[in-house]
Amino acid sequence: MDRQSPCAQRTDLLPKDQGLADALGIPDRKASLAGIQSRNAPVGVFDSGVGGLTVAREIMRQIPEERIIYFGDTARLPYGSKSKDTIVRYSRQVIRFLKTKNVKAIVIACNTASSYALETVQAESDIPLIGVINAGARTAASVTRNGRIGVIGTEGTIGSGIYTEVIRKLRPGTEVIGKACPLFVPLVEEGLLHDSVTDEIASRYLSELKGKYIDTLVLGCTHYPLLRSTLGRLMGEHVTLVNPAYETALELRKLLQDHGLDRERDAVEDGEKYQFFVSDLAEKFTDFATAILPNEVRETKKIDIENY
Ligand code: DGL
Repeated sequence: MDRQSPCAQRTDLLPKDQGLADALGIPDRKASLAGIQSRNAPVGVFDSGVGGLTVAREIMRQIPEERIIYFGDTARLPYGSKSKDTIVRYSRQVIRFLKTKNVKAIVIACNTASSYALETVQAESDIPLIGVINAGARTAASVTRNGRIGVIGTEGTIGSGIYTEVIRKLRPGTEVIGKACPLFVPLVEEGLLHDSVTDEIASRYLSELKGKYIDTLVLGCTHYPLLRSTLGRLMGEHVTLVNPAYETALELRKLLQDHGLDRERDAVEDGEKYQFFVSDLAEKFTDFATAILPNEVRETKKIDIENY
């Protein structure tokens, strides 16, 4: 395999006049492309907000040597109730921002953005890019015993039908039952992880799935792993909960190795190993991130994503 091929310099994509681009506040794409061949460059991870930290956390656990640039689009959350066109536009902007940080690969941690935009942005990208759907679908298809799988997610993810499509390709004949659970995201954002209100809403959403005799439930939204104990209790022990974040981290490790982009173990650390950016409410994000990540998050920078 040509180990450099995914990172080939696309000079045809560079602006003709970066001076003009600078004056207009357009990011320096030449600078962003110059560094992407380095295997010691960071990995970009993005989500509509804090939920993607469940994926970043898994990457930190499974491939601790990798550096991460995380972006949470807190100004434009939720993605789950927006149209495909909007999510593709948002995803392109975020990818342009991450590239200014010289990332060597990008993980779309958001299920909705993975459902709606992955295929499009992957085709446009000169660096490797993965989403979370394949990982979740693969795990679910391999763990189900009775071939009946439930998937919960945002309206966008469930409406796209992508989990059903991918699971059935992997395991034809599987019964896949999707259920949108739009209230879970605000409950998590409010920190109501263990609360009677969350219990009540979850039991209403899940009652439909309980009657379908599923033995596997995909947590098809970044926020839902944070409700794992409630969901597990309500579904019962016989239902295996699948968190796509775990498999995504393993998939990323393999992807980096396959492309010769895995970080050298003795690489010199320069600057913060994990950097966090949001489009709004940086302090709130810092508090949330510190609560769910293994290490304290010292700083989150706010950027204007509409400039990208
Ligand atoms: N990150 C989104 C997802 O995984 C959930 C939050 C939102 O709707 O933006 O689908």
